[in-house]
Amino acid sequence: MLLLLSLLLLELAAMPLPAASEALPGCPSSCGAVDIPYPFGIGRNCSINDSFTLDCNRTSDGTGEVPFQGDVEIAEIFLAQGRARLLNQISSQCYDPTTDSISSNFWYLQMADAYTFSDTLNKFTVLGCQTLAYIEGDKGSTEGVGGYQTGCVAVCHSEGSLSNDTCAGIGCCQTAIPRGLQYYEVSFDADFNTSHIYNFTRCSYAVLMEAEAFQFRASFITTDDFLAINSGRGVPLMLDWTVQTETCAQARRNASSYACKSDNSECLDSVNGKGYLCNCTGGYKGNPYLPNGCQDIDECAGEEDRKPCTGICRNLPGKYECFCPRGSHGNPINGTCLPRATLPLAATLTICITSSIVLLLISSMCIFMIYERKKYVKAKQQHFKEHGGWKLLEEIKGKQGLRFKIFKINELEEATNKFDETRVLGRGGHGTVYKGILEDGHVIAIKKSKFIDESQKNEYGKEMLILSQINHKNIVKILGCCLEVEVPILVYEYVPNGTLHHLIHEKSKISPFSLSARLRIAYDSADALAYLHSTASPPIIHGDVKSSNILLDENYMAKVSDFGASKLVPKDENQLATLVQGTCGYLDPEYLQTCKLTDKSDVYSFGVVLLELLTGKKAIYFEDSRQERNLASTFLLSMKDNRHYEILDNEVKNEGDIQLIQELSDLCKQCLKISGEERPTMKEVAQVLNRLMKFKQHPWIQENNETKILLV
Ligand SMILES: *[C@@H]1O[C@H](CO)[C@@H](O)[C@H](O)[C@H]1NC(C)=O
Ligand SMILES: *[C@@H]1O[C@H](CO)[C@@H](O)[C@H](O)[C@H]1NC(C)=O
Ligand SMILES: *[C@@H]1O[C@H](CO)[C@@H](O)[C@H](O)[C@H]1NC(C)=O
Ligand SMILES: *[C@@H]1O[C@H](CO)[C@@H](O)[C@H](O)[C@H]1NC(C)=O
Ligand SMILES: *[C@@H]1O[C@H](CO)[C@@H](O)[C@H](O)[C@H]1NC(C)=O
Ligand SMILES: *[C@@H]1O[C@H](CO)[C@@H](O)[C@H](O)[C@H]1NC(C)=O
Ligand SMILES: *[C@@H]1O[C@H](CO)[C@@H](O)[C@H](O)[C@H]1NC(C)=O
Ligand SMILES: *[C@@H]1O[C@H](CO)[C@@H](O)[C@H](O)[C@H]1NC(C)=O
Ligand SMILES: *[C@@H]1O[C@H](CO)[C@@H](O)[C@H](O)[C@H]1NC(C)=O
Repeated sequence: MLLLLSLLLLELAAMPLPAASEALPGCPSSCGAVDIPYPFGIGRNCSINDSFTLDCNRTSDGTGEVPFQGDVEIAEIFLAQGRARLLNQISSQCYDPTTDSISSNFWYLQMADAYTFSDTLNKFTVLGCQTLAYIEGDKGSTEGVGGYQTGCVAVCHSEGSLSNDTCAGIGCCQTAIPRGLQYYEVSFDADFNTSHIYNFTRCSYAVLMEAEAFQFRASFITTDDFLAINSGRGVPLMLDWTVQTETCAQARRNASSYACKSDNSECLDSVNGKGYLCNCTGGYKGNPYLPNGCQDIDECAGEEDRKPCTGICRNLPGKYECFCPRGSHGNPINGTCLPRATLPLAATLTICITSSIVLLLISSMCIFMIYERKKYVKAKQQHFKEHGGWKLLEEIKGKQGLRFKIFKINELEEATNKFDETRVLGRGGHGTVYKGILEDGHVIAIKKSKFIDESQKNEYGKEMLILSQINHKNIVKILGCCLEVEVPILVYEYVPNGTLHHLIHEKSKISPFSLSARLRIAYDSADALAYLHSTASPPIIHGDVKSSNILLDENYMAKVSDFGASKLVPKDENQLATLVQGTCGYLDPEYLQTCKLTDKSDVYSFGVVLLELLTGKKAIYFEDSRQERNLASTFLLSMKDNRHYEILDNEVKNEGDIQLIQELSDLCKQCLKISGEERPTMKEVAQVLNRLMKFKQHPWIQENNETKILLV
């Protein structure tokens, strides 16, 4: 009953282009226009199993080649889906009015174990106007025939009742098939024949075919158009296929027979019940049945594989990254990356340029600082040289045991905390005196002058040396100097109890200041000045004797200070002119006329200091808080009228007897003589003071000259 017809071998036109070779090495990758991927193969050695072995036969007209699996022409293989499309033959039944007989063409199809007819994609399709067609199927040859049977009836009464496009019982009937069929056969009921309508339709057709590939036409009923589909080579039928008959779990146990040979492949159990498929895992494509068959998909390139990415796309093994460029944000996949800042490039440029400029600035600052530092060091050396530092150094080396130090400016800066305001001991017209603490804990006084006499610059070092050699208990000792600066700095011993000026005019108001203490200070100061004038070599004129230049040590012993540089006895007129020294109220009136500073100028000034001690008044003082008075001239005037007693300090008046006060007043008068020559020398002043001091302590000495001789 079943009739097997040879298939028409015709070349398939307009098939899609094959992809890269996915056959076993050395095996043909295609037959005609059909790709043959492994596990399929042309020839036994090229396929995984006989079920997948294809023949590549010439078409009957000899114009091309087509693959066959057994008797079935394969039109296309879908590796990833585990499907294949074959061309199936159409069964038919036709009425022949000339002989009043029926001719039939019934087909069956038996597929190998690896294949099933796709139940989702295929439909049993029947065409005719008086037609009943049966389909019988089976789930595999091993299970026996007769598992499945159904039929489909198609009826129409006239040509006019036919319409294109719809297959809904009028001239056309379709029915689904169950899952897992591997075999089917078709039969027609002969009692349904077209003997009475052969005028417009003679034949009925039935076939299992891909539903999507079928579109009903009225002409299929009235003509033999249906048979002419695909040039008569058959209608498409979709097959599902699997490799082996085991499940994935079973298959994995035997590595040598496991079909998913490629890395990055996975095993999928067939939905049709038996066997499994292989698939490349996500991000890979290719042939999972071949070793290294699954290749990474470059999601950033090509057309097919390219993933949407409006940002930067970077392919990675099995995946890819899509991100917005640095400095921008947004949706890099289907949106757009927007710049984070208004102008990222400009911003970057700005940052670059700014940092370059900053770098440049820093480096030029460094260079400038190095340059300045060098300049500074050079300037220090220059000053040192200018001030006769080298000569001084040599001299110091020559004189052993001399305690005179040449300080470095950093030492002094450190000692005074960078000449901090809190360290200021006193301020004068010429400069400022700071208290300094050396590293070893020694306390020093540092005098920083404002000016230096240019003409004497070079002699400075030498003068320092002379001053350093002055050694008198009532003279503030000079410890050293610093010549590295424009105006040399002098370093003295630190005398803690302030100045005589302070003691007389401020302190005495609190505590009594006895006459004998006054005399002691006067004598000590006079002795110091006498030493400067006569013992020191060369002689030194103080030039600025005043109560604020007489310092007091911890025992209230006087220490004459501030005989600075340039106060040595001048050698010529030129030097003289520059020596504008002294303080108002103490200034030698003769000096104002002659401009000649002499040791007697110091005597005059000392006279004023002595007056201060006796009267407790300042050299220039205010009487009745209005009238400015010169102490010296006031005193001299009052002495003329013999009224000098009135202006003396109460303490002095109380303590001293008339004779002592008179002698002291006379001494003052002598010192304040207008003519320097008439003034006593400092030495004489000191002697008188010494005598008066002793007389104050032991008044009886004065009374008996003999006793005095005895005592001496
Ligand atoms: C297939 O391979 C076997 C050995 O592996 C060989 O003997 C045989 O000739 C091969 N067949 C073809 C068609 O190449
Ligand atoms: C294809 O060719 C082979 C031999 O070349 C033959 O055995 C086979 O029957 C042929 N198949 C068809 C369908 O012609
Ligand atoms: C194999 O994987 C691809 C992509 O990963 C997928 O489209 C396809 O459906 C898979 N095949 C099966 C049979 O699951
Ligand atoms: C055609 O069908 C009729 C019944 O509809 C039947 O009597 C007749 O014998 C059939 N013709 C042939 C050739 O089988
Ligand atoms: C069906 O389509 C064909 C051509 O596409 C047309 O000639 C014919 O008239 C159509 N028949 C009906 C019933 O629409
Ligand atoms: C077939 O058509 C012819 C003429 O067109 C007509 O004479 C004959 O009766 C028709 N036959 C049937 C069975 O309708
Ligand atoms: C080929 O594989 C199928 C399962 O897919 C199996 O049933 C069959 O026995 C295999 N044939 C050979 C020759 O290995
Ligand atoms: C594994 O498969 C190979 C080839 O298919 C077969 O020869 C072997 O016996 C199998 N081993 C097991 C343990 O199933
Ligand atoms: C872009 O993709 C996101 C998820 O990635 C989705 O939510 C959004 O709707 C998409 N927009 C457009 C315009 O496709």
